[in-house]
Order: sequence, then C-alpha cells, then structure tokens
Amino acid sequence: MKLRTILLISFGILLMLAVGFPLAVFSRCQTNNTCTGIAEPLITPIPTIIAATLPVPQVGAGAAPVAVKCQITAVELIGAWVSAGSPETDPFNFTDLQGRTCAATFGDDVQRLFVEANIWYNGASACTTCHYADVIKATQNMDLSSYAGMLAGSQRKNGEAKGNDILGGGVWDNAILRQMLQAQGGQSSINRPLMPLGRPSDVPDNGPTLYAGTPLAADATSVP
Ligand code: HEC
Repeated sequence: MKLRTILLISFGILLMLAVGFPLAVFSRCQTNNTCTGIAEPLITPIPTIIAATLPVPQVGAGAAPVAVKCQITAVELIGAWVSAGSPETDPFNFTDLQGRTCAATFGDDVQRLFVEANIWYNGASACTTCHYADVIKATQNMDLSSYAGMLAGSQRKNGEAKGNDILGGGVWDNAILRQMLQAQGGQSSINRPLMPLGRPSDVPDNGPTLYAGTPLAADATSVP
C-alpha cells in the first residue's frame, strides 16, 4: 500500500471519530425525535415484569390440595358414561387405572373425545370433521358435535329427530359406538373401519389413556 493511501485512510478514520463521536454524544436525536420538531406517537411501554398480585403460596397444612386427575382409556371413559345412562351434566363415576373411584362429566371429559383433533392418535381428525351438525350432509347422517346429536344417533338421512341409537340403549357392550371405537388386537371386531376413520392399527385397542375426572373425596388422598 502506498504511504498516501495509508495517510488518507488514517485521516478518514480520525475525521469520523472527531465528527461522529460528539454528534453521537450530544445529538438530542439519539433516543427520540425532539430535534426534528415532529411529535412522535406516545408509546405505552409493555411491562416485562408483571406485578405479583397472587397471594403467597401456602405450604404444609395450610396448602390447598393439588388438583389430582384420574387416568382411564378413552373407550372405557365413554363406556362408563353410557353405562351411567349418558347424563348430560350430572357427574358419573368410573374406576380409574389406579383403582380409585372417580367422577367425570360429559362436558368436561367425554365431549372432547369427539370434537377435538389429535386425541385418538397423533394426526387424527376430530370425529366432527365427518359427523357434524348438518346431518343431511354429514357422514352416516350423524352429528357427534353436541350432546343432543349424539343421543339422536346415526342414519338421519332427512334430518329426522331420531335415527339409529349408537349408544346401545345404555348397554355399552351392544353400542355400535363401542364397536367402531374398540379394537381387538388392532383390528375391528365387526369388520368395519375403526374410528376415527384412518386409525392406524398400532393405536391401543381402547384408545389413548387420558387424564380425566377427579377422584372422589374418599379416594383423593390415596394417591399411589
Ligand atoms: C374422516 C371421516 C371420519 C371421521 C374423522 C370419523 N368417522 Fe365415523 N364414520 C366414517 C365413515 C366413512 C363411516 C362408515 C364406515 C363403514 O364403512 O362402515 C363411519 C361410521 C361411524 C359409525 C357407525 C354409524 C352407524 O350407524 O353404523 C360410528 C358410530 C362412528 N363412525 C363414530 C365415529 C367416532 C366416534 C369418530 C371419532 C372418534 C369418528 N366416527 C370419526 C367417517 C369418519
């Protein structure tokens, strides 16, 4: 490199420092635009630390009981609900995998098995993708999107109020709903496709094991 070039570059750097540094320090435009005379919109800062308004957690004897959930397979949960007379809002009881007596409700625990995707297996469609409220168009003319639709049943081709009972008249063993959901060694026991349609054979016969319901008071303390 020629000496002249080096000198020029050095001079340039010096000039930048000499002019830039005071500008940066003394300019009032550093953090706002007051020097331009243009009013900036008022921005309310979003607090990153939220005031701790929750009460101090109690430990020991004063502590509130932790909400304990019961565990049961999807098919057995629906079966317990049907066997209890398929109540709409009243709780029904079931025995969970740990042998505890538990209570669940249709709204909190059962309905989601029909209206939510990815419950029966990863990538599963919700039952209501095919069996939805417009029963004239829905697959099997059946609406699984509501309590009333489930009780009205299937094959309501012209929107009839009552179709074929899918709940076996309250006898879970006889219910077509059970036969479509409960596999035997990964296969349908009635030679029809298992639900949800497209269900792989490695899904457990009784469907996934779920957290559902809560132990009854007497059983709540005997957590294994
Ligand atoms: C992708 C569409 C689709 C999804 C999702 C689906 N089904 Fe089905 N369902 C069908 C089809 C198609 C049939 C008819 C199957 C046959 O050929 O036997 C059927 C039949 C049924 C029947 C038998 C009705 C009768 O009168 O015989 C029941 C009960 C049922 N499905 C329940 C369910 C449940 C419960 C779910 C969710 C866990 C579900 N389906 C998810 C398409 C679907």
